[in-house]
Amino acid sequence: MNPYDRVAYPNRPYPNTHPDHLAVVARLRGIDAAPVERARVLELGASEGGNLIPMALTLPRAEFTGIDLAAEPVERGRQVIRNLGLQNVRLLNIDLLDVDASFGKFDYVIAHGLYAWTPPKVRDKLLAIARENLNPAGVAFVSYNAYPGGHLRMLLREMMLYHAGGFEDPRERLEQARAVMQLVARGRPNADAFDAAVAAEAAEALARDDGSLYHDYLAENYEPAYFHQFIAHADRHGLQYLDEASVRDAANLKLSPEAVAVAAQAAGGDRIVEEQYLDLLRLRRFRQSLLCHAGAPVAARLQTERAVGMLAATSAAETAEGEFSHPNSVRIKTNHALTLMFLRRMIAGWPQEERVEADTAEMALQLFQNGMIELHTVPGVAVRAGEKPRASPLVRLQASRGDSSVSTLRHRALTIEGDPARRFIALLDGTRDRTTLAREMDCSREEIDARLESLARRAVLLA
Ligand SMILES: C[S@@+](CC[C@H](N)C(=O)[O-])C[C@H]1O[C@@H](n2cnc3c(N)ncnc32)[C@H](O)[C@@H]1O
Repeated sequence: MNPYDRVAYPNRPYPNTHPDHLAVVARLRGIDAAPVERARVLELGASEGGNLIPMALTLPRAEFTGIDLAAEPVERGRQVIRNLGLQNVRLLNIDLLDVDASFGKFDYVIAHGLYAWTPPKVRDKLLAIARENLNPAGVAFVSYNAYPGGHLRMLLREMMLYHAGGFEDPRERLEQARAVMQLVARGRPNADAFDAAVAAEAAEALARDDGSLYHDYLAENYEPAYFHQFIAHADRHGLQYLDEASVRDAANLKLSPEAVAVAAQAAGGDRIVEEQYLDLLRLRRFRQSLLCHAGAPVAARLQTERAVGMLAATSAAETAEGEFSHPNSVRIKTNHALTLMFLRRMIAGWPQEERVEADTAEMALQLFQNGMIELHTVPGVAVRAGEKPRASPLVRLQASRGDSSVSTLRHRALTIEGDPARRFIALLDGTRDRTTLAREMDCSREEIDARLESLARRAVLLA
């Protein structure tokens, strides 16, 4: 039986895989990536469509295909697609080894959480698809566990497998693996620095839900790659490195300027070598690399002028005069008048965007690289609450079936705490005004207003 049929894997939206985000990064790098409104998107290892279905909902004229070897997640995803009546997304229960030219060409190919967990033959085919089924200006997203940081997980994996690897039953396997991790996390009272680092990693593994621990740590295949190895593999398939999907990561904000300078010097102008040195210095463990066809004109740096005409938005808040805090934990402090005005306008307008102009492009790009704002190529669909508020049909479906996490219209996973919050969302079908909502929730109008404002800020409401 397929392991992903035996134990479900948590499957949700991954913002960095969204074609709009891929288009932003590609265009800033000089590649004229296809307009996302009508793009063809292929996701390999799409599981139950937790990433693909929210994209399809907000881009009704684009076309989405997801494939996965495991039957049960695919069936669960198809149920959601049927429920929402979506015509532009399909999930196929097939092996990616069977993808061929008959699938046609795609503008964006996504493989999230697949490369490091599959045998060499599948990994090879994954990159072959990223080449053969990709349009000339197409972008492929491939995430993978990377070395050197991946060694730490490998260390824990080997401990867990030594003890729990013989257990067939997934429940027992997980229980035994957790027992080992508990000892590693707490077993050495006089811990030195190395012990403490491993213990912290074990604590992180213990915090994982069953699906993540079972598949991310105990999977049959687990083979992280050094960045340079991954790029060499991509090169053998006629693909080149475009950029990292996590733009903030690419800015290397966690390294000292000296370390960044040394990496650049050691690389002597070779971008791949430089990135590899940076990975070594950062002890990097995960990458979300973007690839495009070898020979495509990738610019050496992000091009500021290409940000003009893009759409900027932020869900940040100004927590004190000139201090801004973003839900992704980024904080900045500024007294630069233009930046203050720009950020304040966007905060007031969220979830709507502001067009980037020539005079705001440089600032927008910098804030984008800091993780303080988003850039888009197409306007989002989320709005503030109207007279008869309506939540995204997907969010309503997820809330009514009791999910603890829902998929926002900005392609993020949002945790919903408690049954009343879920019941409230399920009521937001556009037929009830605030008075009716207050009556049905048995609460005040003020509470309804506050709940709606909070949902609107999280990009859950539709016009
Ligand atoms: C770790 S999960 C990642 C799922 C999803 N992409 C995510 O990140 O949430 C790997 C997925 O790849 C699928 N998979 C593994 N080998 C495959 C293959 N040869 N063809 C298609 N799907 C495959 C598994 O069934 C599983 O759903």
